[in-house]
Amino acid sequence: MASPADTAAPVAFVTGASAGTGAEIARALAGEGYDVAIVGRRQALLDDVAKDIKATGRGVLPLTIDLMDANAIDKGLDKFLDWSNGRVDVVVNAAGIPGPLSPDIGGYGVDAFDAVIATNLRAPFLILSRLLPVMRARGSGRVINIGGNHGMRGRAGRSSYSASKWGLRGLSRSAALEAGPDGVTVNYIAPGPIAIPRMQAMWASKAEAAGQSTDTVVDDYVAAMGIALGRTNLPADIVAMVLFLAGPGGRNITGQELVIDGGVIV
Ligand SMILES: NC(=O)c1ccc[n+]([C@@H]2O[C@H](COP(=O)([O-])OP(=O)(O)OC[C@H]3O[C@@H](n4cnc5c(N)ncnc54)[C@H](OP(=O)(O)O)[C@@H]3O)[C@@H](O)[C@H]2O)c1
Repeated sequence: MASPADTAAPVAFVTGASAGTGAEIARALAGEGYDVAIVGRRQALLDDVAKDIKATGRGVLPLTIDLMDANAIDKGLDKFLDWSNGRVDVVVNAAGIPGPLSPDIGGYGVDAFDAVIATNLRAPFLILSRLLPVMRARGSGRVINIGGNHGMRGRAGRSSYSASKWGLRGLSRSAALEAGPDGVTVNYIAPGPIAIPRMQAMWASKAEAAGQSTDTVVDDYVAAMGIALGRTNLPADIVAMVLFLAGPGGRNITGQELVIDGGVIV
């Protein structure tokens, strides 16, 4: 497991890297020449992503961390900073959980609310508490927080998720103002629905239950969401924005919300 101390490559720290969009972001950053620390709970999935990164010739550090556990985050960050020799160029907070999917407030409990806030908002706070000072001391760095277009609007039945993503926006904007003078950018990407395996499985099981084709279910979903372009995101749509913000194009962009949702928030 080559470490950045051996390779002098730039270093990225990516959460949610065991699956879905975060895994694609981690692979893409390795493709751009980053050594990448990848965070998730499912070891086998992290191992698969690590294998792909190693195949690019870059260093990789798989970190099995439950982001709801503050101590585990702290220990994981100790390991990470040791591995990276105190270097961090890009932080992507991509881990997230949707939380209760349909109950109105009053129909779900505080434990479910707390789990969503802990994963989607408190974990990025804890990670930035350790890594932003490191970036600021080096005088450079890019932080990219993956929120959601539910952080740009309310939606009935998605209160905990929406609250967590609005919170992440506030955290991102404030961090951008604090870290800007030290040359560190902090931005928030607000995707609409992304066709990742978890969503594809959900659409397929709805289709099976309704005796419809998956295409019909997706078309109905897109119509219900009011997506102007009439299509969901691909993970590549989010990856492209991450690479842009991490690259030369992102040099002078900070404190922004980049909405990628095919035209819902317009
Ligand atoms: N999919 C969409 O339609 C959509 C739309 C808008 C925004 N987003 C946002 O985009 C980001 C990526 O979502 P996705 O749907 O692509 O991901 P996903 O396939 O649902 O995967 C979620 C990732 O978060 C990690 N994670 C969740 N809880 C964790 C915990 N307690 N500790 C450590 N890791 C945890 C998972 O790892 P483990 O399970 O291995 O722990 C996994 O890597 C999220 O922030 C999500 O809110 C998604």
